[in-house]
Amino acid sequence: MAAVSLPLAALLPLLCGVLGFPLGQETGPTSCHATKPNLLNVHLVPHTHDDVGWLKTVDQYYYGDRNDIQHAGVQYILDSVVDQLLKNPDRRFIYVETAFFYRWWKRQSADVRRTVRRLVDEGRLEFVNGGWCMSDEATTHYSAVIDQMTMGLRFLNDTFGPCGRPRVAWHIDPFGHAREHASMFAQMGYDGFFFGRLDYQDRSRRRIAREQELLWRASDSLTPPMADLFTGILPNGYNPPEGFCWDQSCDDPPIRDDPDLEDYNVDDVVKRFLAIANTQAKVYKTNHIIMTMGSDFQYENANLWYKNLDKLIRYVNGRQANGSRVHALYSTPSCYLQELHRANLTWALKTDDFFPYADDAHDLWTGYFTSRPALKRYERISNGNLQTCNQLEVLGGPISRNGPFGKGDSQTMKKAMAVAQHHDAVSGTEKQHVADDYARRLAGGWLRCQVLVSNSLAALSGSTAERIYCDKLNVSVCPLTESSSKFSVNVYNPLARPVSWPVRLPVNGTSYKVSDAEGRSVDCQVVPLSAATRAVRRNRGFAVNELVFQARAPPLGFTTYSVSLLRDGPPAASTRRRTPTAIQNKFLRVTFDPDTGLLSGLSNLETKQTIKLTQNFYWYNASDGNNSKSDQPSGAYIFRPNSSTPFVISRTAKTETVQTSVLQEVRQWFSPWVSQVVRLHGDSRALELEWTVGPLPIDDDLGKEVITRLDSSIQTAEYFYTDSNGREILQRKKDFRPTWILRQSEPVAGNYYPINSRAFIKDEVDQLTVVTDRSQGGSSIQNGSLEIMLHRRLLYDDVRGVAEPLNETSALFPEGLVVRGRLLLSLDRPPTAADAHRPLAQQAVLQPTLTFTDGDGRWSPCLQFSGLQAALPPAVHLLTLTQWDEDSVLLRLEHQFQSRESKENSRPVTVNLQKLFSTLEILGASELNLSANQWKDEMKRFHWTPQTDEKPLLKRSGDPSSWEVTLRPMEIRTFLLRVDLR
Ligand SMILES: *[C@@H]1O[C@H](CO)[C@@H](O)[C@H](O)[C@H]1NC(C)=O
Ligand SMILES: *[C@@H]1O[C@H](CO)[C@@H](O)[C@H](O)[C@H]1NC(C)=O
Ligand SMILES: [Zn+2]
Repeated sequence: MAAVSLPLAALLPLLCGVLGFPLGQETGPTSCHATKPNLLNVHLVPHTHDDVGWLKTVDQYYYGDRNDIQHAGVQYILDSVVDQLLKNPDRRFIYVETAFFYRWWKRQSADVRRTVRRLVDEGRLEFVNGGWCMSDEATTHYSAVIDQMTMGLRFLNDTFGPCGRPRVAWHIDPFGHAREHASMFAQMGYDGFFFGRLDYQDRSRRRIAREQELLWRASDSLTPPMADLFTGILPNGYNPPEGFCWDQSCDDPPIRDDPDLEDYNVDDVVKRFLAIANTQAKVYKTNHIIMTMGSDFQYENANLWYKNLDKLIRYVNGRQANGSRVHALYSTPSCYLQELHRANLTWALKTDDFFPYADDAHDLWTGYFTSRPALKRYERISNGNLQTCNQLEVLGGPISRNGPFGKGDSQTMKKAMAVAQHHDAVSGTEKQHVADDYARRLAGGWLRCQVLVSNSLAALSGSTAERIYCDKLNVSVCPLTESSSKFSVNVYNPLARPVSWPVRLPVNGTSYKVSDAEGRSVDCQVVPLSAATRAVRRNRGFAVNELVFQARAPPLGFTTYSVSLLRDGPPAASTRRRTPTAIQNKFLRVTFDPDTGLLSGLSNLETKQTIKLTQNFYWYNASDGNNSKSDQPSGAYIFRPNSSTPFVISRTAKTETVQTSVLQEVRQWFSPWVSQVVRLHGDSRALELEWTVGPLPIDDDLGKEVITRLDSSIQTAEYFYTDSNGREILQRKKDFRPTWILRQSEPVAGNYYPINSRAFIKDEVDQLTVVTDRSQGGSSIQNGSLEIMLHRRLLYDDVRGVAEPLNETSALFPEGLVVRGRLLLSLDRPPTAADAHRPLAQQAVLQPTLTFTDGDGRWSPCLQFSGLQAALPPAVHLLTLTQWDEDSVLLRLEHQFQSRESKENSRPVTVNLQKLFSTLEILGASELNLSANQWKDEMKRFHWTPQTDEKPLLKRSGDPSSWEVTLRPMEIRTFLLRVDLR
């Protein structure tokens, strides 16, 4: 009997929408309604778009709280939809945001859960996308996107098994689309992708050419079809066609179908519907079209929608008897996609991205690339903190979750980060109180992680001394180092290779001794605190000096430095008022114009290259909407300067210089609201520009968008380069789009692109790369120049729904937010530039975590630790190491170079999984898809044929052995490792 019961159980999931049988064949859902091959099939897709925070916080949206701000309650939507699905088995619904579904599911009875499982198994309720949220595409980093998708999809798999696995990625609202997102979705196993927003010129061209459905080849490096993603552009954003919105929030006429009553309108409704369907069919390629029947937070009273949709389908199809050629049906994106696949056509191939997004000639959605720069930075640091937390949870073992410092967890931070990826979160397009809520969640997550990190470090170091965290080191605040005469610093490095990292601590002494874990004394320097830092820290600290030294931390591990005050050591370095002609270390030489105090040149001493380089700060005067061309103001979403020429903040900078053997810095003061430190550390190959901008003055009633601009002697010929979500690089050209002939109507805003981690300009001999510490917008408007927008303060709402001007203040900064950040500049020969910027950018994302202990940390049994047997090769990045369940951990290894990008590093590289870790014994490994919700060998995607295919499909060679894993350029491989955690 056992032989019978087992296959039966195994067959059960096959009854659902995702039939995976017979093996080896591409199959789609089985629960789709029949279509009619000779008619125009109209797929009606009931859906709701539920923002994971925007005008209200995620929890307010869930409960339906604060309906005075916006009427929206997701719990009622799910309640109502489930009831209505049960009333008619033909009805369908899709659900997208797992952050909400998870909140709802937690509170359901066993009965409701059983019912919902059945709806899912039968394909009547279908999950699409399925990440925790629908992430923003312009301002997110791939690492955090993969994490949030993994969390949502894991919940769906744990709860519903294979029937809960979304087949379609669904980004109907994000404001432009990143190529790296498409690449990730392909590697997550999605069969297709649908979205709603693209440039209005691009859309009209695609409608005429019938290229609203296409094949996106989303990587220059991955072998097709690895990063190929079928992409469909929805006909009407994500809204229903005009006149067919039957939600309680809409005013369209219901179907009045009783001829005995007044205002019978069936004929009119059917006529209007057929006209819309036939018009829509003209701009798509097949005899299938899709209509999104729903919108923001709709279906709270789902009866209204379904009652009318039932009738619509009945009356429209009833006309077939009279020769109508239109067939309407309840459908889902995956059912629609399956029909497109069956059509067996060839599709236009696209290799660039969908940025920037404009919905009209003067309405460029390029402001949000920079909006809320402080939140953007906090989100980026939080990602680094979360990776540290995840790693230390694994390396420290179970005691990290419950140890000497109490109970800690990584889950709170994971959720906070996942919510923060939403397209109105890190994007900066939410209301102020919602932005505060995202930040509060991140802070709460980090507090839970700190307990975990303390427990783990206690286990790994053998010392239970209290660890202190100083989260405000960027403004030189740390009560312990400010007052203690003896303390130790633990430097944990989350990267899989050793790093050298400048540590900078607020102190009040003038001379310190710093020793490393081996007791050797380390070069260090005390420098006076700058006036700018004093101003921005306000009354939060009282240090007069800063102690600077270079820490060297082992891969995936920590080292400990001890610091003690010297009573009669040398005095602190002094500052000079004169601008030096140059500062230099052994790698770089930076020259200044002594008359202006501005940068004037940069040399790489190793490669013997020199460029002219000036840098200054400017502001664009934000349009207030009173403009002859259009009344569009600049706002949270939209960047619209009143003039293409920015105002210079000051032609000259007052300077102060500190020059020591450990570091050299020129402190520039441009105005009461702009200052900068040009800084060269002793052994750094990158020049640091630490900018401090704000509070932006608005007493002149002018909104301001502040940029820094680097003007160089590099011959850029209108080209520049920006990264996509922190990974592959895309070439940009001024006033140009690769796939259509652009009519440029906004000479500045229309040339802005998202910079997630880096941008560069180059010619034959020189490449200047700028690595950023958060997502920002930027462009190259003049030959040889690169500008980056740092901060924005605006006085008008830009009429895209948020209904608040982007005018950030806080209790500590009532006169306007002050933002501080860092750009890292690297000058290289183009063929070797990637060897410099790839590791530099990873280091900016995964910064070391510093913890402090008061007194002498020296008695701690273990001052140094590495979780790896050896550093990983330079091409390999350890992207994820996180606890999965009791006895397994999730590992992602990434080849961090593109093909042809580096002579040395753009080659396949092989890593042995069993020889990776120093303390973890690996018992087994299974490979998963990128989002870890499907075993790699079960991953089967639809195959799509592009119209033109230049590249022959290469067969990838397998791994040398079961433990040895080969990574090719830009490949990420995901493994579930069974480990012995002792
Ligand atoms: C798809 O079309 C190609 C020719 O373009 C043909 O060879 C192939 O058999 C078709 N496949 C199906 C399943 O109809
Ligand atoms: C999905 O969940 C099922 C249990 O519902 C589990 O057996 C399976 O291993 C999970 N798949 C993955 C890829 O984790
Ligand atoms: Zn949205």
